[in-house]
Amino acid sequence: MKLAQHKDLLGLRDMSREEIQLILDTAIPMKDIIKRDIKKVPTLRGKAMITVFYEPSTRTRTSFEIAGKYLSADTVNLPVALSSVQKGESLRDTMKTIEVMGFDVMVIRHSMSGAPHYVARNTNMRVINAGDGANEHPTQALLDFFTIREKKGTLEGLTVTIVGDILHSRVARSNIYGLSKFGCEIRLVGPPTLMAPEIEKLGVKVYYDLEKAIEGADVINVLRIQKERQHVGLFPSLDEYANLYMIKNDKLKKAKEDVLILHPGPMNRGVEISSEIADSTQALINEQVTNGVAVRMAALFLMMGGTRDEIAY
Ligand code: CP
Repeated sequence: MKLAQHKDLLGLRDMSREEIQLILDTAIPMKDIIKRDIKKVPTLRGKAMITVFYEPSTRTRTSFEIAGKYLSADTVNLPVALSSVQKGESLRDTMKTIEVMGFDVMVIRHSMSGAPHYVARNTNMRVINAGDGANEHPTQALLDFFTIREKKGTLEGLTVTIVGDILHSRVARSNIYGLSKFGCEIRLVGPPTLMAPEIEKLGVKVYYDLEKAIEGADVINVLRIQKERQHVGLFPSLDEYANLYMIKNDKLKKAKEDVLILHPGPMNRGVEISSEIADSTQALINEQVTNGVAVRMAALFLMMGGTRDEIAY
């Protein structure tokens, strides 16, 4: 099976279970490459990739860039804040300008849901969604799945609790779309004002009590409170949020002893997660970042037409 039959990687809603598994399986040898002294293979030599982030990023943008470099692609970042976007250039004209320079793949993050889909429809470049509004963040969910699978051996049938700002979370949506293809029990918990309306229709269970939601869970995925997307006060104060929903030791009493704690980062320590948990061995936050490079290498390689057996060592 080739992922390259799809021009773009825009979300997990329309990706099959087999395609998700292919990316996760391909990320295993990619992770071996990034553990070497010389982290460079010629696999994407002659290909050009550009990252275009209309929203801030540390992990996603940098990991795409280094993933491309490890595979020998030529990688360029467009610093949007210093670009002609600031002179009023439209997304369409920016995209066309990039296309005619000969780039093969564009990795885009945008505050508008659907912006990567718009670009994908209007360009011959391959487009990867690095987060669009509150819609999807597919490579984040893929790296979450890789991290879980590495520890638990499987995704099949696990109970995964996603905590916090569900309403604004593209990470939650991509996790829901993907995990539901593996028969997981998906629980969402957070304040009613941060719960997305009608989200139950996606086959998830909604909770408002943190301890009930994490009882018996295999994985707790803690979301960042996205202050930048909250234009009205959706809860009284950060202290009140922390009292009810922060993942800390005394809230984990009813969780499984070997429960895995994930957080996509960046963290608001003392708001959605305590430092003692964030820095504990139960938390896989740094491993998620490392795995993000491997998963993005796998996605880039497969999208450019590679197969699992063709990785150039
Ligand atoms: N998890 C994530 O998307 O982090 P960045 O915003 O730093 O890319």
